[in-house]
Amino acid sequence: MAILNILRYPDPRLHKVAKPVTVFDARLKKIVADMAETMYDAPGVGLAASQVDVHEQLLIIDTSETHDDLRIFINPEILWSSAEKKIYDEGCLSVPGIYDDVERPAQVTVRALDINGKPFEISADGLLAVCIQHEMDHLKGKIFVEYLSPLKRNRIKTKLLKEEREMQGTARRQR
Ligand code: NI
Repeated sequence: MAILNILRYPDPRLHKVAKPVTVFDARLKKIVADMAETMYDAPGVGLAASQVDVHEQLLIIDTSETHDDLRIFINPEILWSSAEKKIYDEGCLSVPGIYDDVERPAQVTVRALDINGKPFEISADGLLAVCIQHEMDHLKGKIFVEYLSPLKRNRIKTKLLKEEREMQGTARRQR
């Protein structure tokens, strides 16, 4: 297993649209294992393949406190979402240190494939519903900051680009 590099906003690769997974083989299992290690190491509660520069419809979620409830969603589709909305203070491993309110449907029913290509359906609410929708947005090339006002989004972009320049500067000085 390996810890993968997580793309940081505003990296343009985060806006690529993921393609459906068609082959359920050892390569796919390796990507999932590496993504899980990367998510637990970060630590985060969800990770979409797009965030590690793999542009395939694959995401993982573990909202448990004990990090032993890994859920894998391949080629996920929303079958139903509630009219009722909920606001949640969201964050993202690709937008480190930034949290803000996003309004989404409170409940969703999702169909997806498991690691062996077998279909399943799940109805979710609470944090799991938020995570599923947030990670599915990643597969469409959408980042949660795109729900915020342009002013806030630009502030976030400027802050993260400045941090990145500072990190690169530090790395150069250390060489
Ligand atoms: Ni995210």
